[in-house]
Amino acid sequence: SRDPEVGVRAWDRDAMKRAGERLIAEGKIGCFTVAGGQGSRLGYDGPKGCYPTGAVTDKPLFQIFAEGILAHSRRHGVSIPWYIMTSPLNHEATVAFFHEHDHFGMNPDDVMFFMQGTMPSMDKATGRILLSGKGTIATNPDGHGGAIKALSVSGATADMKQRGIEHISYWQVDNPNIHVLDPVFIGLHATAKDSSGEMSGKMLAKAEPKEKVGVFCRSKVNCEPRTMVVEYSDLPDELAEATNADGSLKFLSGSPAMHMLGVAFIDTVASDPAFALPYHRAVKKVAHVDLESGEKVEPSEPNAVKLERFVFDAIPMAAKSIILETDRFEEFAPVKNKEGVDSIVTSKQMQTERAARWLEAAGTAVPRNADGTPDCVIEISPLTAVCAEDVAAWADRPAAITAGETVVL
Ligand code: UD1
Repeated sequence: SRDPEVGVRAWDRDAMKRAGERLIAEGKIGCFTVAGGQGSRLGYDGPKGCYPTGAVTDKPLFQIFAEGILAHSRRHGVSIPWYIMTSPLNHEATVAFFHEHDHFGMNPDDVMFFMQGTMPSMDKATGRILLSGKGTIATNPDGHGGAIKALSVSGATADMKQRGIEHISYWQVDNPNIHVLDPVFIGLHATAKDSSGEMSGKMLAKAEPKEKVGVFCRSKVNCEPRTMVVEYSDLPDELAEATNADGSLKFLSGSPAMHMLGVAFIDTVASDPAFALPYHRAVKKVAHVDLESGEKVEPSEPNAVKLERFVFDAIPMAAKSIILETDRFEEFAPVKNKEGVDSIVTSKQMQTERAARWLEAAGTAVPRNADGTPDCVIEISPLTAVCAEDVAAWADRPAAITAGETVVL
């Protein structure tokens, strides 16, 4: 909305919310999580969705998402299918985790796993394909852009059509504060006159110029102005830091990687023989065998080039995309790094902060420190509330929380 090229008009939030709720209740909306990544920055030896994340309970990310889907499903009396993309690196472990935990209360028929593809990893110095063992090529997952083809090839889109699913809510596995289904966003994407119902996204203002998030921008594709995301790793520093006359960032609109996708759009894009999302290059550490000695090499420095596709490169293929601005505290608490920014510590703080805001808005007294942070740890299960309005309508809501308390609601 800060881009003068982009149309801004008043819109009716309540009407969009009602439209989104109607689509959920009619069983036309599914959920989709990309969980095929290697999670190398987190240094966790397992699928990231299994990572203990709940602010108090340490419940795994997958459980938090499952409870969110169940909450909507119960509210609307409709089954909501959940599609989960894994990769050869973590498929078996992910499926086993769901079985061990009885699919966290979901009907197993409503949870579908499928694997994304892989790409060979190449030696950074020579460009030659690396071997992970004798006669075995070293590979890496082909990026979440692989989802478009994988959704189609795996039969996931066929399953959606058979169930009458028209749009899917897309999110990444690392964010416990995700609104798995956001009626306002669904309504805008599927019914607003300035959306083609193909692919939409949410945005939030970047916390700092070099925050590691992609940025939305407008550019011409085949002479047509289109919306797109430029990944942080592809954005030169001078552009990341560029400002407007008023001092605001030129590329302010960060992407938290939350999208709505039309099933018909996925089909069209996946079935077009000319369709190919571009590859992005990343330099990473890849274990391999030395071709001379046959010895295993565990590199201490990045030695290899990975090629990955990004799902947001499909946005310019949509005729008209809605980009909905959201609030960081409300929806974004990613667990990406072992420590520091976007770590489990900051994620738990953000989870507590959101819970505190929901409770305070409903009238519960929440103790706060001098610096404004909550003087307590709070976790609200999605089965209790998926949004602030649920807390306000909740008869058993506590009147106050004691300083230093640890609360699970
Ligand atoms: C990602 C986005 C970035 C966004 C930010 C918001 C990409 C490339 N970039 O950055 O634009 O602003 O999140 O948090 O996504 N995944 C797969 N298969 C793969 C690779 C990744 O399923 O082959 C999944 C991961 O499991 C994860 C998600 O994609 O759920 C993000 O992957 P990651 O590489 O961690 O991206 P970020 O650098 O965090």
